Amino acid sequence: MSETAFTPALGRFAPTRFYDNAITLTRERLWRALVAMHVAPRPDDVIVDVGCGTGSLALLLNRVEPMARVVGVDPDPDVLAVAKGKPGAAGVRWLTGIGDTLTQTLGPASADTVVSSLVLHQCPVAVKRSVLASMFAVLSPGGKLVIADYGLQRTPLMRLAFRIVQFADGKQDTQPNADGVLPELITEAGFRAVRETEVVPTVSGSISIYTARRD
Ligand SMILES: C[S@@+](CC[C@H](N)C(=O)[O-])C[C@H]1O[C@@H](n2cnc3c(N)ncnc32)[C@H](O)[C@@H]1O
Repeated sequence: MSETAFTPALGRFAPTRFYDNAITLTRERLWRALVAMHVAPRPDDVIVDVGCGTGSLALLLNRVEPMARVVGVDPDPDVLAVAKGKPGAAGVRWLTGIGDTLTQTLGPASADTVVSSLVLHQCPVAVKRSVLASMFAVLSPGGKLVIADYGLQRTPLMRLAFRIVQFADGKQDTQPNADGVLPELITEAGFRAVRETEVVPTVSGSISIYTARRD
């Protein structure tokens, strides 16, 4: 299944230009650093950031290992324009593309690592599945998946905080994340060693980091 419609970075109500300021409130530096730690980029690694948005994670990974080949993919040309204007942007390859057609954009088994942050909670369940299947197909055997996104909201406070995200992105696509569906969907896509490695409480709900491998 290919879904060409997508929810823009800040959801239905706020323009993309406010995205970077808004996301700072989510303890962004902490969870992005944790993602980078789990990615542990190496020279010559091909690392694909799916739904890269304004490029903060792709640029961080490129700073951590400038010899890695980082590719940022996003369906929204407006958000990619912001990414391309940032310092260091020339070190990353930016591509317009949707998350469930990665092999058409990049070729099958062409990536060592796939990362994605704050994308799947905005997608309908069928699209979460098709994006994960596409991530599996674009990874080479032995490749690594690292996802940071709103996951199981474990406490009343985090469930309350997550309503901010549900207000912006709607309940239908976001609630399955809050109910903890991602590990099951990642496993269904064919990944092994699926783990929720970190849980970071934020003002908009807890952000989990999931890691997994393709055999
Ligand atoms: C909340 S933003 C997150 C951006 C960035 N990853 C970050 O961590 O700041 C979600 C991004 O996912 C993109 N997106 C939405 N649906 C997508 C899909 N099906 N495939 C790939 N990207 C998608 C949007 O265009 C948007 O840039």
